[in-house]
Amino acid sequence: MPSKTDVAPWWRHAVIYQIYIRSFADGNGDGLGDIAGIRSRLPYLADLGVDAIWITPWYRSPMADGGYDVADFREIAPEFGTLSEAERLIEETHKHGLRIILDIVPNHTSDQHRWFLNALAAEPGSPQRARYWFRPGRGPAGEEPPNNWLSVFGGPAWTRLHEDNGRPGEWYLHLFAPQQPDLNWTNPEVRAEFEAILRFWFDRGIDGFRIDVAHGLAKHPLLPDINVRSAQFPPGLVEAAEMRGEAVAQHPHWDREDIHEIFRQWRWMADSYAATPQGARMFVAEAWRIRTGGLAQYLRMDELHSAFNFDFLKCPWDADKLRTTIDTHLAMLAQVGAPATWVLSSHDVTRPVTRYGLSGDWTQLRVGLDAGLVDIELGSRRARAAALLMLALPGAAYLYQGEELGLPEVDDLPTDILQDPIWERSGHQIRGRDGCRVPLPWSDTLPALGFSTRKPWLPQPPQWSTLSVESQTHNLGSMLTLYREALRLRRTYSAFLDGHLRWVEAPSRVMAFKRGKDVMCLVNFATDPTPLPAYDKVLLASGRLDGHMLPPDTAIWLQCKE
Ligand code: GLC
Ligand code: CA
Repeated sequence: MPSKTDVAPWWRHAVIYQIYIRSFADGNGDGLGDIAGIRSRLPYLADLGVDAIWITPWYRSPMADGGYDVADFREIAPEFGTLSEAERLIEETHKHGLRIILDIVPNHTSDQHRWFLNALAAEPGSPQRARYWFRPGRGPAGEEPPNNWLSVFGGPAWTRLHEDNGRPGEWYLHLFAPQQPDLNWTNPEVRAEFEAILRFWFDRGIDGFRIDVAHGLAKHPLLPDINVRSAQFPPGLVEAAEMRGEAVAQHPHWDREDIHEIFRQWRWMADSYAATPQGARMFVAEAWRIRTGGLAQYLRMDELHSAFNFDFLKCPWDADKLRTTIDTHLAMLAQVGAPATWVLSSHDVTRPVTRYGLSGDWTQLRVGLDAGLVDIELGSRRARAAALLMLALPGAAYLYQGEELGLPEVDDLPTDILQDPIWERSGHQIRGRDGCRVPLPWSDTLPALGFSTRKPWLPQPPQWSTLSVESQTHNLGSMLTLYREALRLRRTYSAFLDGHLRWVEAPSRVMAFKRGKDVMCLVNFATDPTPLPAYDKVLLASGRLDGHMLPPDTAIWLQCKE
């Protein structure tokens, strides 16, 4: 097991690899990734040089939203394996010197969760319904939803019940798909249940949790309408609307004050494991719609340990904008002493190789891509440079499976196989997130490029055989080699761990900073090559150098004198 005697707690500087379990590796040949697949690939992850893995929901689920609709938080979905396999995986992960974190989904359950089934069977006003948000509709016959809130996946955030007793049905709230009813966090039973679930997994050796939709748990008790302006945005674009400024202090369901008290309790519990051999456990928050600067509140000493910096992920490829994003974030975190948590990709956003190759609108993280607008070669070059930039920044970083292979978004999946609820809920306007969830290519063995012995649940582009782990492993110029080498250097040079970040003067559209005394990172965002400063040694470059010049869209790590 990793030791707890590190200078700083491990999560302050870890590189954590996100496993989207359905698409990582299939161990039993049914075309769907599973626990057996993860176990077989632990040596790969240890060799890659990450410190920890995060596994997306593996609990029993009807899979209406890829497992983010949980029917039982203490059971493993049979398609992924069994609880004893999960326990073995936890043990083996630790034996490989890696930590393991899970995904907790506290904002909602599946509509097949026993609590929701009980609520449906119970009367309006019953304690069973009080665990969720059931309300009568508006209008003379209750035919209008209780308020104007919209689902993140498109359409109204309310669905009406068909009660058996002939009375007009109540409506229930779901900020995501109708199969994901929102829990009522003012209910003490809900709080107690989630504390018990966290303990269930902590007691089995889990090192921490990624908290799904951490900003959504608290709702305004009166469920008022959202101001009309933001409610008018078309389905699927609510997020964009709120990003533009409507996510004000007292939004009725995002980023509300009452959330903090829940997380203080969670922190207390995670800290109560300090005396175990593994030490205290950690949390990382997924929180998108936060007031400017508001993330610091989630990261106060007695709250969560870390939260993804999505501003970095969303930032266009621009030296000034990126530098401002980095500075703003670090200054905000300094107020509360929390570490930065960088991320370039996840199972929810268009893959970086494609995103950085897009000439279109950068704010659209889930694009209905017109392949003609994407320059994959440019995107790959920038994604390589972005990787070196991210991994040189102080704090922790998350990698999403396939990022280390430079996989592009699969933007031409046939529409009849799309599984993301966004596709249906947006009235077929937005393709959704399946394009970043295509199973990994491990080798060039057909029918599934080493992912499975059967047809995978989403088809892989045949040209991915050249991007497979096997093809990239011995290729010195590959993305995989770049990531491996970067992670090795990050472990070798202590400046990456604890060196202070100091900006260094550089030509316009060139970013340069030092970590500690002797490590420098330079990124060229300009269209012309830029001269390198004096240095002792090139540690790593994201592309070929042009003599003493750093080409456009290229990053370099240098060792230099003080
Ligand atoms: C988070 C997850 C996403 C999921 C949603 C609802 O944003 O990352 O995949 O659809 O929450 O649980
Ligand atoms: Ca399987």
